[in-house]
Amino acid sequence: MSIRSSRLAGFDRLPLDERWQVLATAAGLDARDMAALADERPLPLASAARRTENAVALHVLPLGVGLNFVINDRPVLVPMVTEEPSVIAAASNAARLALAGGGFRAEADPPVMTAQVQLCDVADPDAACERLHAATAEVMAAVDRAAPGMVARGGGSRGIEVRRVAAPLGRCFVVVHLYVDVGDAMGANAVNTIAEACAPLLATIAGGRAHLRILSNLADHRLARASVQIPSEALATGSLTGELVVAGIEEASLFAEADPWRATTHNKGIMNGIDAVALATGNDWRALEAGAHAFAARGGSYGPLATWRRTATGLAGQIELPVAVGTVGATVEGNPRTQLALRLLGGPGARELAAILAAVGLAQNFGALRALATDGIQRGHMARHARAVAIAAGAPPARVEAIAAALIRTGEVKVERARSLLDEADS
Ligand code: MEV
Repeated sequence: MSIRSSRLAGFDRLPLDERWQVLATAAGLDARDMAALADERPLPLASAARRTENAVALHVLPLGVGLNFVINDRPVLVPMVTEEPSVIAAASNAARLALAGGGFRAEADPPVMTAQVQLCDVADPDAACERLHAATAEVMAAVDRAAPGMVARGGGSRGIEVRRVAAPLGRCFVVVHLYVDVGDAMGANAVNTIAEACAPLLATIAGGRAHLRILSNLADHRLARASVQIPSEALATGSLTGELVVAGIEEASLFAEADPWRATTHNKGIMNGIDAVALATGNDWRALEAGAHAFAARGGSYGPLATWRRTATGLAGQIELPVAVGTVGATVEGNPRTQLALRLLGGPGARELAAILAAVGLAQNFGALRALATDGIQRGHMARHARAVAIAAGAPPARVEAIAAALIRTGEVKVERARSLLDEADS
């Protein structure tokens, strides 16, 4: 599916059925896609119940579309699943402003995952490390033998690394990293199988006992990056010049670069976008979270994943983080909405999806910093939060806007208040 445009003016003000029509035209959706959008029970409960233990029901979240994205000169409609109001609007606004600089550039490394094998009780760790190094070709061949399908699809072993890891209680482990190109899969299952298959060989070579055999979620051989340049004039607000907004965003970045407390919130905002696309596309967002935060602390102190600088003409932002995502596999393929999300993205491979996630993370961060450096986050947030509160209080669709507006007027955006407003109107 190739997207003609990601700019769908007035989309958020349209009723649901008109949104579907607009989306269908912009994205060239077919009858199957339209049915998947409209289906209120896209995943049969009986099939869901076979996937997760002790399942008793489906839990649902809204699927929205991030608009205005242009990534590597291609318009992209970004499927996003989130419970948090403002996230999709902020990403879409940020992407719209980024259009003034030509949109985002983004890329990702080849999809190389890391599997770890922990070797314990190694009598002479230094000598074991040397023997393991010398056996690199033999170990790589064992990796490929454990994943013939992956090798046939062009993936397979890409090298090994041997580390001595000093641990508490005076212990020392020899740890072998197996680097594996997993193609379009996220790859967790594949590399776990490979680690288990290769562990006996590694233990024999090292003269020790193989213990843990599992992927590392610090997927630092699988990084994605994005960058954006925005001219200052595009950033002016009613009360601030573009130059002042640029300076404010740079100051916000410097704060995160200097302070782990701020960096944590800065990165949480980035993950608001990345997790939402990961959820929509059936990917493991906990793996992404773990990898992102460990990467953010790689220098020994916790820092921001994205940074911003003033340039001669405006603002430049960049992001880099591990992005282990897949576009094939049971979780991705077994859910009609996930398939729809991937079709909306133009059917990307894993590497392309990783690049899109990096661009969305950068946009989300830009949106948050721009709001924080200008009006503050609450103004835009409050209207959406009030709508969510009205819905939570049981307001029927036709009355949500009126109740939300009344909540804002009273200055008390609480479910209890919304309930009494509904009761007053009914009595
Ligand atoms: C809220 O979900 C995310 C922000 O706190 C991110 C940030 O402060 O940069 C707005």
